[in-house]
Amino acid sequence: SQQATWGGRFTSGPAELMLAFSESVSFDRRLAPFDIAGSKAHSAMLAHTGIITAAERDAIHAGLDAILAEIEAGKFKWDVKLEDVHMNIEQALTRRVPAAAKLHTARSRNDQVATDMRLYLKHACAQLSEKIAAAQRAILDAADAHADVLIPGYTHLQRAQPVYLAHHLFAWLEMLQRDRARLAETAARANWCPLGSGAIAGTTLPIDREFTARQLGFVDARGRPQVTQNSMDTVADRDLFTEFAHACALFGVHISRIAEDLILWSSAEFKFVELPDAFCTGSSLMPQKKNPDSCELLRGKSARLQGNLHTLLTLAKGLPLTYNRDLQEDKPPLFDSHDQAAICADVLAGTFTGLKMNRDKCAAAVADPALLATDLADYLVERGVPFREAHHAVGAVVRVAETLRVPLDKVPYDEIQSVHPAFEPDWTQVFDLKRAMQKRRGTGMPGPQQIKKQFARWEKLIAET
Ligand code: ARG
Repeated sequence: SQQATWGGRFTSGPAELMLAFSESVSFDRRLAPFDIAGSKAHSAMLAHTGIITAAERDAIHAGLDAILAEIEAGKFKWDVKLEDVHMNIEQALTRRVPAAAKLHTARSRNDQVATDMRLYLKHACAQLSEKIAAAQRAILDAADAHADVLIPGYTHLQRAQPVYLAHHLFAWLEMLQRDRARLAETAARANWCPLGSGAIAGTTLPIDREFTARQLGFVDARGRPQVTQNSMDTVADRDLFTEFAHACALFGVHISRIAEDLILWSSAEFKFVELPDAFCTGSSLMPQKKNPDSCELLRGKSARLQGNLHTLLTLAKGLPLTYNRDLQEDKPPLFDSHDQAAICADVLAGTFTGLKMNRDKCAAAVADPALLATDLADYLVERGVPFREAHHAVGAVVRVAETLRVPLDKVPYDEIQSVHPAFEPDWTQVFDLKRAMQKRRGTGMPGPQQIKKQFARWEKLIAET
């Protein structure tokens, strides 16, 4: 049987129970491509500085390439007795090439795992951002397909003011754009190479950290290598894990809010949208039911993403410097956040791709003249009435309409006049919806000129990666 790499000072191996308890290879094996990239860069540096020979480096590289090919083909034999991905790969290399015994020179699993995870996170941030961009694309396409549709905007889930559907959808794009920005910032902070920090205090051997960093792409915009600046912090630090989990958790909050709007909009009470059959399910009992399951799961997954963040924050709190084995527990929640956020982004895109708008229902909902009560107050303001007074007057008009049981725009002019003398016979033109939208011209507003600008802006932003 295998002797653990650290077995020198031990008289017996770990108990079966301890092996099962402490192994991480069942989940950290997904780090293999990054671990191998790290080992290749490290051995290239060892050869560059003369610590190993070029022939030894080449043998190590060939061996690692062969192992990666085996892993990718699903033929590699992972062994839980070897604890983790790092030991599994090193042992496999040892069986192939004698030079493998020199690979771990001037390196510890502590700076190794920190390096693997930074490489992993850079990749994860880029991949997730791309998926979120694809969801944004699907939302933008939905906005484009229904560019002329108006709906009520809501506060307190009460009809507030009319907006173009596109304006509502653009609000979602803004949320998702911030998620992408957060991922880019996390990737930028991940871009510093830990290798050379060793277990905690570096190494006595003459290594070249900048060389390794360059090999692994830990470089700034001008190609200058970036290496971490404190060996103790480097092996203890798990900030990036919580930052990534936070980016995912906040993305989860966003998709949950989007999902909640879609769930409401697809109910018989609203009926603004028809969700695609492919992302809904039926009821096993009630034949008429079509349930918005993809949206409900998007809402549910956000709880899980928040839980992962909480796990990571709690895991790191109270640990003495530097590395402690507790930190192995950082990977399952991190990987889960990555995987769940990724599939949520895909499902979000899918849900929008087959979305149909119910134009009649939207038109009926937005036709309520009360949605323009604020415009009516603005009408008085334009005629010199202080806003507070105007607001009060329109409130009184709303009360009259309710008493007479007529829509706001059907209150007789003499009633209007007696509420406030500044009302003129032209007061009803306020209720021309097109005109009302035209007047909302400023940046960030839902007027048609702005909507047009925003379409162009989003086309550009979504294409940028
Ligand atoms: N499997 C370990 C982890 O994920 C790798 C680092 C182990 N280092 C150590 N000193 N035991 O945290």
